[in-house]
Amino acid sequence: MLRIGVLVSGRGSNLQAIIDSIEEGKLNASIELVISDNPKALALERCKKHNLKSEIVERKNFSSKEDFEKAIASKLKDKGVELVVLAGFMRILSNTFLSHFPNRVINIHPSLIPAFQGLNAQRQAIEFGAKFSGCTVHVVDESVDGGPVIVQAVVPVLPEDNEETLSRRILSYEHRVLPQAIQWFSEGRVSMKGRLLVIEGAKYGSLPVN
Ligand code: GAR
Repeated sequence: MLRIGVLVSGRGSNLQAIIDSIEEGKLNASIELVISDNPKALALERCKKHNLKSEIVERKNFSSKEDFEKAIASKLKDKGVELVVLAGFMRILSNTFLSHFPNRVINIHPSLIPAFQGLNAQRQAIEFGAKFSGCTVHVVDESVDGGPVIVQAVVPVLPEDNEETLSRRILSYEHRVLPQAIQWFSEGRVSMKGRLLVIEGAKYGSLPVN
């Protein structure tokens, strides 16, 4: 069973998708710790409901970003976490953190990266006039919403879409691809070939297949 830690900042619907997949027996992983940098995150309520260990680690309580990241890394290490999942964690992690979990920090982002990185990805897609967008689960490197792609799902951007309707459409796929990506790690199917990430046994490159 893969021991995971989940970092959140807000609503936590992706955290919920992970919880549901575990409870449904589709995802062979255990959530050892949830860390929120935001004490008001709805994600923390979800932890209570499902008896998950959670901690609040606020940036403002540390004099440097380095100390903040070290504190998070050490809490995760103490719990024996093998894979760190950023599920709506709205901070950029530096190498101080990433070096503790090489190629073992993953993030979900609501666009087909490298398009529309950063904040408000869905609004960016609409304002750009993109006809398709989607979501990406990727290994985190020091770039913003960048790093080797694990899986992507594509959705159309409809002429009548606004930020909310597009976000909703993308989110329904986020909830599918994130547990899928974690399951691939759990099965030991993910490896790096240079900069490229390979999923053993996946027939269609980055499509969400079993
Ligand atoms: C999700 O749409 C996720 O892709 C996005 O924040 C939302 C969190 O929702 N993440 C990013 O934009 C990261 N750059 P959630 O809290 O309900 O999972």
